Amino acid sequence: MASKSFILQILAFIFIFSPLAHSIQFNFPAVFNFGDSNSDTGGLVAGIGDRLDPPNGQIFFKRPAGRFCDGRLIIDFLMDAMDLPFLNPYLDSIGAPTFRKGCNFAAAGSTVLPASANAVSPFSFGIQVAQFMRFKIRVLQLLEKGRKFQKYIPQEDSFQKGLYMFDIGQNDLAGAFYSKSLDQILASIPTILVEFETGIQELYDQGARNFWIHNTGPLGCLTQNIAKFGTDPSKLDELGCVSGHNQAARLFNLQLQALCKKFQGQHPDAKVIHVDIYTIKYNLIANYSRYGFEHPLMACCGYGGLPLNYDSRVPCGKTKVVNGTEITAKGCSDSTEYVNWDGIHYSEAANQYVSSQILTGKYSDPPFSDKMPFLLPLKF
Ligand SMILES: *[C@@H]1O[C@H](CO)[C@@H](O)[C@H](O)[C@H]1NC(C)=O
Ligand SMILES: *[C@@H]1O[C@H](CO)[C@@H](O)[C@H](O)[C@H]1NC(C)=O
Repeated sequence: MASKSFILQILAFIFIFSPLAHSIQFNFPAVFNFGDSNSDTGGLVAGIGDRLDPPNGQIFFKRPAGRFCDGRLIIDFLMDAMDLPFLNPYLDSIGAPTFRKGCNFAAAGSTVLPASANAVSPFSFGIQVAQFMRFKIRVLQLLEKGRKFQKYIPQEDSFQKGLYMFDIGQNDLAGAFYSKSLDQILASIPTILVEFETGIQELYDQGARNFWIHNTGPLGCLTQNIAKFGTDPSKLDELGCVSGHNQAARLFNLQLQALCKKFQGQHPDAKVIHVDIYTIKYNLIANYSRYGFEHPLMACCGYGGLPLNYDSRVPCGKTKVVNGTEITAKGCSDSTEYVNWDGIHYSEAANQYVSSQILTGKYSDPPFSDKMPFLLPLKF
């Protein structure tokens, strides 16, 4: 026993200090992602045939790339760190997409709870899980047909060995503030999480074993919510964020973390990681200048100028006629100075910062280096 663990320690030492170990040694053959706009790489746009306009995508893809961002999302940086290609959306079918290393079921605007009739996205979490089931069945059918499709689809064991990532819940909370009181929203959180649990249990039943779950960010610091719910200064915290929204996000996160612990306890053969995105983002907004940003709350792409540069009538890149006058939500001159991209989503620069913090392992429960032998501490 002792000598075996000694050998493992030496191996770990070599691995950690080898000059090649600059990226995480996750060794996942594939990633399956579920969520909302925080990790949507083109699902909503493909799924409802909508369009994103420039300057979305300008800083990295040089064109709108299905992401509500000027560039890459957290999931893109994490895929990079895992040495895997960007995830293709499940619904994006044109151009010989490859799903060999995974598939993205996330769609902007999605909720955990079933979508209401006027929802931005019909692809709520239950639908995303159902899409995954369909995806898996088709992959297994195609694999039986021989090698022809291998380039495009995951291998059979990828479903068990793959990483299942989740970033969803923000829209359940943020959307509720338009029609419910804070108390009602806080009381509804267990219902949201029961639905989430149902979904991850279904995935477990299908063979998923590696779960990576992001909690929700400080919703009250999103420009859109400050513009709508923060006009009364007594509703704002010391950073200028809407207190009630952040209170809801924190309670959601406490209960989500408890769910992760419970789920881990019920499934000892699974690995469940909870990642505290809230703390990373709140710290970024509190200490933005230290991380090279100039504007913690104002949107880069928007309309209206100071202090928030946000107008809910005109989304980033669009032009609307308001009162007989054309107004356009334009990009700022340097989006890397902004934490917020379009009032609702983070800029690529902010996403890169958040990803670097995720990859320290410090915000995870359990922390990376501890009980997760395949997650070595990251040099960044
Ligand atoms: C901002 O940075 C300081 C110094 O590192 C730290 O003590 C503080 O907790 C940070 N603020 C937030 C909200 O995390
Ligand atoms: C539209 O124009 C009217 C009359 O000039 C003005 O009272 C109103 O505030 C304007 N509305 C907006 C949204 O600008």
